[in-house]
Amino acid sequence: MNTPAFTPRVFSGIKPSGGLQLGNYLGAIKRWVDMQGPDFETVYCVVDLHAITVWQDPAELRASTHEVAAALIASGIDPESSVLFNQSQVSAHAELGWIFNCVARVGWMNRMTQFKDKAGKNAENVSLGLYAYPSLMAADILAYHATHVPVGEDQKQHVELTRDIANKFNHDYGVEFFPVTEPVIEGPAMRVMNLRDGNKKMSKSGDSDMERINMLDGADLIAKKFKKARTDPAPLPDNLEGLKDRPEARNLVDIYAGLSDMTSEAVISEYAGAGWGQFKPALADLAVAKLAPISDEMRRLMDDPGELDQILGKGADKAEAIARPILEQVYDIVGLVRSR
Ligand code: TRP
Repeated sequence: MNTPAFTPRVFSGIKPSGGLQLGNYLGAIKRWVDMQGPDFETVYCVVDLHAITVWQDPAELRASTHEVAAALIASGIDPESSVLFNQSQVSAHAELGWIFNCVARVGWMNRMTQFKDKAGKNAENVSLGLYAYPSLMAADILAYHATHVPVGEDQKQHVELTRDIANKFNHDYGVEFFPVTEPVIEGPAMRVMNLRDGNKKMSKSGDSDMERINMLDGADLIAKKFKKARTDPAPLPDNLEGLKDRPEARNLVDIYAGLSDMTSEAVISEYAGAGWGQFKPALADLAVAKLAPISDEMRRLMDDPGELDQILGKGADKAEAIARPILEQVYDIVGLVRSR
């Protein structure tokens, strides 16, 4: 039933919780930028309500929300052609999230691997919001009747749950109201790994700052981090097969590919036989050339939170104009009396 009846619409969200790093840029932001254009309506959301499922210092949450908005705009999300806003400003998310809490089953939530990982042994003491997180995520997506959701592999299960919720809602109420959303999973090359351990994902929360490239790192620091990145002594092979058991080397090649819009195959054939003394400086130069203009623009935008709020506010108006009528139809379908 997920056919032409629904406008092709992309929705994705990013949490404002701490600094942004290269993994966010190559794995999410850059793909979001690339999906803009005539094929889809694009709706991009800074998901602050998701962030508070774990404790956030209020001042840091505000700063992070501005940082993420600035990063998206500086990277090329055009607030005129895309819808860009922060989640809490469009109450349809929370309202539809509640309806979905009543559609989703506890058994479904219990299967969510991300909850199990995050809650760990502490499951009795995490917030109820963390448990219900996937149901709010389904609301984010379905409040826009989004058909395509670009996410990392780690979010695939949540998008599948969104499909289950859409199907159950449609079935229970005998309607064909919600589309069955397609996850658009990132390619493996877009999964950026830790610079010190090629088997771990690059993340903002690792112990050492040297294991990641932050979007706000200056040129010298970027160069230093790539120079010190862990590798092995062998030079680059002439095909990807040769990087099979060399996760750190593979990661640097993939990062080069992501930043240059080349395939990893093309990078490896260009640098076949090169040693790290040649490849690392080339990678550092490329990263600085791509990231410096973005971080300069991010800083400029972050210095003017008033301007950012204005952009986000306009985006929230556009988002509301899509989501509110959908929510009102949901209320009618469910039998909630709209008395005003
Ligand atoms: N859960 C996503 C993450 O942690 C963020 C997110 C929230 C999201 N709502 C969404 C992603 C809706 C895609 C669609 O990365």
